[in-house]
Amino acid sequence: MSDWIKLREEIIQEIKPTELEKTSLISFAEKVLAEVNRVLIDSSFNATAEIHGSVAHDTWIKGQQDLDIFIIIEEYRNRKQLQEALAAVKAGTGWSFTEAYAEHPYLQTEIEGYTIDIVPCFRVKEGQKLYSSTDRTPLHTKWLSGKLDDLQDDVRLLKKFLMTLNIYGAEIKVGGFSGYLCELLVIYYSGFLSLIEAASGWGKEEVISFNGRKPKKNNDPLTVIDPVDSDRNVASALREDSYALFITAARNFKKNPRKIFFERRKYDISIDKVLNEIKERPTDILFLIIEEGHADVPDTLWGQIHKSRKSIERQLHENGFEVLRSTSWSNEENRHIFIYELESAEIPKAVKHIGPPAYLQNNVAEFIKTYQDNKRTIAGPDLIGDRWYVLIEKEYTAVKDLLENLLLDGGRSVGVSRKLALRILQHHRILLNGEIEDYLKEEDFKEQLYDWLIGRPLWIE
Ligand code: UTP
Ligand code: MN
Repeated sequence: MSDWIKLREEIIQEIKPTELEKTSLISFAEKVLAEVNRVLIDSSFNATAEIHGSVAHDTWIKGQQDLDIFIIIEEYRNRKQLQEALAAVKAGTGWSFTEAYAEHPYLQTEIEGYTIDIVPCFRVKEGQKLYSSTDRTPLHTKWLSGKLDDLQDDVRLLKKFLMTLNIYGAEIKVGGFSGYLCELLVIYYSGFLSLIEAASGWGKEEVISFNGRKPKKNNDPLTVIDPVDSDRNVASALREDSYALFITAARNFKKNPRKIFFERRKYDISIDKVLNEIKERPTDILFLIIEEGHADVPDTLWGQIHKSRKSIERQLHENGFEVLRSTSWSNEENRHIFIYELESAEIPKAVKHIGPPAYLQNNVAEFIKTYQDNKRTIAGPDLIGDRWYVLIEKEYTAVKDLLENLLLDGGRSVGVSRKLALRILQHHRILLNGEIEDYLKEEDFKEQLYDWLIGRPLWIE
């Protein structure tokens, strides 16, 4: 472990903002805050702008130029006030904003290289009913104050550790750990290393509570009861695979703390290397490329992508194509790619379909009716042992033909989301293996595809 103390210092050097970065970000933040507050006063909107998130908690990672400004509406009348507050800021500052949100309205802008989120919420007291989902934020900052002293660097270590594993962030794309969840975990276990030690022993379901309260019933792998709202699981966005990956990585790290846990894989891979990797493997890689159109905000888009990719996967399976695994990539604007690794892109012409056992009279009747006059029946229906079976000729033996057919209506009838189905109807391409070559010019796609093809975290090597 003494190695760890040295390594820890080295990593903190890399991820902790310098004093200069801190003072310039904070003075910038205060400047923006003063301007927003001036606008609120001028428009006699009864609200206060405050800084929250990792800048307020001093837990941000070096180089991150992200500022969370919350506009706290002092008195609740109705939800329309959220929009009104933003409209006042928009008109009063004259800054240009992007407005893109799924549930809760907020504004985003870029000034002097900083990204600023402006999020409205209502002032509530602890234990009081919430009016909107972000009302807890000021309570979070208040609860955290004083508890993070000397633990900020540990929070940064945890964030970096999770970033390397691709499980930092509560957005749908990631399904990982939010910044606030990191802060709570580090406080609960009094540090990064003790958290790692605890997480090595985490089971199928884990509950963490700061005040002995019991959680509401849920199916989440990790439940961290929000200390300011016992109805809320701070880890509710964490997906099972992210949770499992964290535990596994924690175990491995505990055994052998290494720099590799805090470093992204460095890529220097050529298009040929990726193509070669695809060519050498005994499986087939199927790509569905969806282009054009304007994407929804990331959380909505990724919801559509995950759902649609999975429903296509189910159809491939039902039609006899074994999907070993699948993933998706998107530039979050106008190109989305579903990727399936198949046992084989071609399957035999015939399949033996086993039906119900002889004693299930109704099912047997149904089975016989379905297959006796079916033009794709090769032999049967007949009995093998106590079960009915039939030999049928498959409609599709090439996966591309099948997928093309499934997408005749954009995939709508098999569960592709409405928005993506529309885009599929406008334009899509189905490619196999090396046919993906042209798309590998996109660096990010090339790297992620290669990473996925290898399919093995660096630290187990
Ligand atoms: P961020 O997502 O910006 O996280 O949320 P962060 O803690 O600042 O971490 P990094 O360093 O930027 O990654 C900012 C604040 O907004 C609240 C949380 O309280 C968090 O502290 N928040 C965020 C919500 O209330 N709800 C959300 O869905 C997301
Ligand atoms: Mn933030």
